[in-house]
Amino acid sequence: MAKKKLRLAVLASGGGTNLQSIIDQCQSEQIDAEIVLVLSNNPDAGALARAEDAELPHCCINHRDFADRETFDQQVIAALQEAGVELVVLAGFMRIISKVFLVAFPHRIINIHPSLLPAFPGLHVQKKALEYGARFSGCTVHFVDDGVDSGPIILQAAVPILDDDTEDSLSERILQQEHKIYPQAIQLIAENRVRIEGRRVKILGAEKSTNTLINPPLRAL
Ligand code: GAR
Repeated sequence: MAKKKLRLAVLASGGGTNLQSIIDQCQSEQIDAEIVLVLSNNPDAGALARAEDAELPHCCINHRDFADRETFDQQVIAALQEAGVELVVLAGFMRIISKVFLVAFPHRIINIHPSLLPAFPGLHVQKKALEYGARFSGCTVHFVDDGVDSGPIILQAAVPILDDDTEDSLSERILQQEHKIYPQAIQLIAENRVRIEGRRVKILGAEKSTNTLINPPLRAL
């Protein structure tokens, strides 16, 4: 009998490279999930073109057509419920999620953010990490709560910052890791291995690693 697949909606405002990595891994059955809706608030989003190319159900709900955040979110919730969505995957979705959305999908909304949270929440975070002089940045997959990039953390990838990095070069290396950890987090949820315990998230059966990263690396003595 075919395995039951987790029903995903991917919400994206921009180019949609994270969406693409999820599409690819669903298609190659590396993850036990299917995208039942791609939704954007931006009619020009590259993500919608990617959905079209992959022949996935997609729609645009333009936030500019709504008087306030709650009314926009109500419309989005209706579309997600209509599609029978089980997990809402924010992939570069540049809208704050209101309470009404959180209540409709409790612990069922995840986000990816291009920094090692809780450092650098918000916007333009690769630039901020560079300007701060951090030696590591990275990316974080987390559950969405009522704060900005503040929910319980599922997975993180650390990316070293190099002396000659620009905002673009750092963003690109972080993005490569995003494309790996986001599908992985979705698969962990599909396998029902993710437990939220207060602020902490436990991953059942995860391998343990105490490998430490040092940047720049230690010199051999
Ligand atoms: C990604 O880097 C994602 O982490 C970021 O937007 C980019 C979307 O790229 N999200 C945020 O900053 C949310 N706070 P993509 O459209 O190519 O997937």
